[in-house]
Amino acid sequence: MKPVKVGIIGCGNISSIYFKNTQKLEIFDVIATADLIPERVDSKASEYGIPNVYYSARELLTNPDVELVINLSTPPDHAGICLEALEAGKHVYVEKPLAVTREAGKKVVDYANSKGLLVGGAPDTFLGAGIQTCRKLIDEGWIGTPIAATAFMMGHGHESWHPDPEFYYKLGGGPMFDMGPYYLTALINLLGPIKRVSGSARISFPERTITSQPKAGTKIEVEVPTHIAGVMDFASGAIGTIITSFDVWAARLPRIEIYGSEGTLSVPDPNKFGGPVRIRRADDSDWKEMPLTHGYANNSRGIGPADMAYAIRSGRAHRANGELTYHVLETMHGFHDASRDGKYYEIQSTCSRPAPLPMVLPANTLDE
Ligand SMILES: NC(=O)c1ccc[n+]([C@@H]2O[C@H](COP(=O)([O-])OP(=O)(O)OC[C@H]3O[C@@H](n4cnc5c(N)ncnc54)[C@H](O)[C@@H]3O)[C@@H](O)[C@H]2O)c1
Repeated sequence: MKPVKVGIIGCGNISSIYFKNTQKLEIFDVIATADLIPERVDSKASEYGIPNVYYSARELLTNPDVELVINLSTPPDHAGICLEALEAGKHVYVEKPLAVTREAGKKVVDYANSKGLLVGGAPDTFLGAGIQTCRKLIDEGWIGTPIAATAFMMGHGHESWHPDPEFYYKLGGGPMFDMGPYYLTALINLLGPIKRVSGSARISFPERTITSQPKAGTKIEVEVPTHIAGVMDFASGAIGTIITSFDVWAARLPRIEIYGSEGTLSVPDPNKFGGPVRIRRADDSDWKEMPLTHGYANNSRGIGPADMAYAIRSGRAHRANGELTYHVLETMHGFHDASRDGKYYEIQSTCSRPAPLPMVLPANTLDE
């Protein structure tokens, strides 16, 4: 299949893994990259041999050969860059979250549909070996009918390691918008769409101090809730409980567990591609670790846009699609709205469970 010509916008912290993996995945030909900070883009372009270098997203979008844009800017710029990319006739895959507001996220998805272009978004960890194995076990009935799920992401934020951590505490940040997409996308892939949510949210530390370099000592004023506890009613009837927090120093809770009528499934960290999958059925005396049935167990960031690239060429549906990322965005807002308003938030959007990946694929490819 003819490789899809790609432009990567944003050469910050997360970009290295995308540059590395897009070189390996057969469907990609990365021909352009851009960043507002010249040294960042110059260094990535020379390290990975990218021929066309730009110092803004807008300039890159004038390159007529770019078919698919991978947007690795920070959340406040996600929707704007996506809209400009679509305007320029490019398909676009964006890091999470899809947008800061529901309105902007919806505009991106509607605009892509109206132009006949594809939009997709992170995370793509649910396409990895761990969660694809869980999907297969659930679909084959190993735990019976799913009744409930728990999801816990607890930590103390990113200011101890990220060089520019401010955005994690501004609109579009916070633990729900930052880490929620991994957990919610995994749950929706496993259990289907969410119908309504309730939740409570708070800001526990209104000011945080950066301890990582080069900004150690700089204060951040926190603008978004940093501890969110939510309940999700799935359309299937399953009930989910989620906590995402940047306010907790230590916790020993599991990442995700799915409780079925005939057993329990322990799902690996949804921020990773592999990890142990464990099951304990009604008549088991202990947990059993299940073999991973699918490929992409290592850090495979980039298989989401690769899946889109195959969809561009073949016309099939892509998995980390706009409908799914918008449903996740609306759900994340739902927890915050429910907390503010003191009532359930009814989710307006829905989505289909993305098709499972084939178990066997040649290395560095996806299904055509
Ligand atoms: N850092 C991580 O570990 C991580 C992990 C997973 C996902 N993400 C997500 O990836 C995205 C980027 O995160 P990051 O940590 O790399 O941030 P970052 O701040 O390190 O990098 C963002 C880069 O985008 C560039 N940029 C912004 N607007 C631009 C424009 N108009 N044109 C060209 N370049 C532009 C910035 O100059 C910057 O270099 C975020 O949405 C984040 O949530 C980050």
